[in-house]
Amino acid sequence: MFKENLLKGKRILVTGGGTGLGKEIAAKYLALGAELWLAGRRGGVLEDTAKELMAKHGGRVRTQSVDIRDAAAVDAMVQRIWDEGGPLTGLVNNAAGNFISPTKDLTPNGFNAIANIVFHGTFYVTHAVGKRWIAGGDKGTVLSILVTWVHTGSPYVVPSAMSKAGLHVMTKSLAVEWGRFGIRLNAIAPGPFPTEGASKRLRPGGGFDDSSKMNPMRRVGKMEELQNLATFLMADGCEWLSGETIAVDGAGYLATGSGAYFTELDKLSDADWERMRAMIKAQNEKDRAGRTA
Ligand code: HXC
Repeated sequence: MFKENLLKGKRILVTGGGTGLGKEIAAKYLALGAELWLAGRRGGVLEDTAKELMAKHGGRVRTQSVDIRDAAAVDAMVQRIWDEGGPLTGLVNNAAGNFISPTKDLTPNGFNAIANIVFHGTFYVTHAVGKRWIAGGDKGTVLSILVTWVHTGSPYVVPSAMSKAGLHVMTKSLAVEWGRFGIRLNAIAPGPFPTEGASKRLRPGGGFDDSSKMNPMRRVGKMEELQNLATFLMADGCEWLSGETIAVDGAGYLATGSGAYFTELDKLSDADWERMRAMIKAQNEKDRAGRTA
């Protein structure tokens, strides 16, 4: 779909780039010639991903372990990137956290665990990068990975839906405020693209079959479809495209609203939720054991 070296000369930071959608987007950017920084909380996972991607595609991938909930750590990371080779040309806001839970059972801590990553953390990274672009007179592109819930809302993932909706508004607001500096912001709202992080916390009992059945195209997303859109939005040639959140979901949210995801969880019993919570917690603990930030 794209010519070789389309992204040559681009320097792009992908948050949450060690796994899931972030890793897939990073792989495509690297294959098209971009130089990459991957950030995340688990240094070992980032290192493994960087090695794997460079072995496959060549090029240069550097890593930085950081928890984006920590604004000072985010600023130090971005300063390091600028110090080690100059300004970024692009930022992919991909890092996120989420789990399904009846909203009545959430504690303030549970709400904050998600909102601090998605809503606050994504702002910290965008701000740290954007203010440097403006100070240096550099142009740049921000691409945020949202979800179709920004349009529909979604039951059982309310902290995520609220936080991602905030980023949808950030995208529109800053596209206007920073347009005159040559900075553009867009977002992708993916439908279901199953990854381990999402499956283990959003479908701990198993697959995405129900959302496939309800989708107009009767399937979930193919990773290359997401990679291609992320590449188009990061490449030169569409600079006037800014402030948009583009859904890639087989027209799923138009057909079903928020119903395609979690409405079926209405039928779970308290015992079912207890089991789900245990599975999610086991995954959280496994991830936490690998954290270096
Ligand atoms: C209720 C829960 C819970 C659960 C955690 N908590 N899991 N409450 N049900 N299943 C509560 C805890 O009890 C605690 O509150 C609080 O949340 C913080 O929990 P920790 O485990 O200490 O949090 P932390 O280690 O900071 O981990 C953050 C996390 C974790 C968000 C909970 O899941 C994470 O780091 N996730 C990152 C990866 C991820 O989630 N990927 C999926 C992204 S999918 P108390 O009060 O007990 O202290 C996505 C949307 C995509 O973003 C859409 C796809 C379709």
